[in-house]
Amino acid sequence: MLNVAILGYGTVGSGVYDVICQNSQKLAEKIGQEMKVKYVLDLRDFPGDPVEKVLVHDFKEILEDEEVDIIAEVMGGVEPAYTFVKQALEAGKSVATSNKELVAKYGAALIQIAKEHKVNFLFEASVGGGIPIIRPLNSCITADEITSITGILNGTTNYMLTKMSEEGMNFEEVLKDAQDKGYAERNPEADVEGYDACRKIAILTSLAYGKQVDYEEIPTTGITAISDNDIVYAKELGATIKLLAMSRMADGKVFVRVAPMMIKKNHPLYHVNDVFNAIVVNGNMVDDVMFYGKGAGKLPTASAVVADMVDAARHLGTPITQIWEKEKLELGDSATEKQRFFVRVKSEDIDDLDMKLIKDLFGNVLYLKANVVENEAAFITESIEEQNFMEGIKQLPNVINTIRVAF
Ligand code: HSE
Repeated sequence: MLNVAILGYGTVGSGVYDVICQNSQKLAEKIGQEMKVKYVLDLRDFPGDPVEKVLVHDFKEILEDEEVDIIAEVMGGVEPAYTFVKQALEAGKSVATSNKELVAKYGAALIQIAKEHKVNFLFEASVGGGIPIIRPLNSCITADEITSITGILNGTTNYMLTKMSEEGMNFEEVLKDAQDKGYAERNPEADVEGYDACRKIAILTSLAYGKQVDYEEIPTTGITAISDNDIVYAKELGATIKLLAMSRMADGKVFVRVAPMMIKKNHPLYHVNDVFNAIVVNGNMVDDVMFYGKGAGKLPTASAVVADMVDAARHLGTPITQIWEKEKLELGDSATEKQRFFVRVKSEDIDDLDMKLIKDLFGNVLYLKANVVENEAAFITESIEEQNFMEGIKQLPNVINTIRVAF
């Protein structure tokens, strides 16, 4: 009998409990012994719920029970999760977590502590929910140098952008719809401002290059400035707008960014819609490999947490190799990255535009249209450095919005 504990009985925690109970026979076959939930930790009470008999309010009870070998941490947030996970690892218990804030901040440190105590710290569910991506990066695409990772890593914003595109809803309407469906939190900041995707690309990039990426250094733009009119232009261009989390190796440096991008049908992430996530990893030998599935939600996320618990059970006393050192990965200067930008300006007609100024600031214009939306003109710049674009845009009057372009 393998005794486990679950820290947190929220959406994912109750999913972990359900997966362990519903698939108990299959899990026993895979592990070679029965997995039993001995404790569930939560501050709340759940009268009438099946977990009532194993519910505890004090983490110490779990920590001090030598029969508990594996813990699922699904509370979210950095504290008290970090303290609990650290103490659990030091007490010789393996931990599986879905907590991206915890992993992005302390991944390297917790892997190190786990190694020292011959246990495992596993976090497949922290990026892409039920999609296997951490394990492939750790143990499948190991013959390659990773040249880029591009992902739709946030289900909530992908749902919102899909709705805006398919139903012409504006940002406020679609946010309310996402909140009503339970996809967006009442405080949606972490999703819509791109912070969630930022932590996830920090984790993937840290694993790809084996060093700590400081997520606070990643330039991050969310989707709050994307309007229904931007979607109108995207359609006119045969494109769609997606919140992409990107990391790319160039000239020996890694450039990381989270931003809404216009992409066309030939982009592998064009057809990834609704709450689905997808990640394209490019290796210098394997070329493109794509991972697709449900990036959020109770059972997909719980499935990944329990899979890690199974892996931990199969490796009791043996740390699985994960290369992620505390040493900081120096990121390339994103201000020097070159790309094209889509720009909307107030203008009654195309003749009102100061084309000389536009060419001086942004080079040759690749697309130029007026009145796709009334009293507006829009253009796409040449591929130019981010810093030059930002300087230029300050000098151009009546700018309504700008979006990066990946074609
Ligand atoms: N809010 C996150 C998302 C949950 O929408 O993807 C999973 O990390």
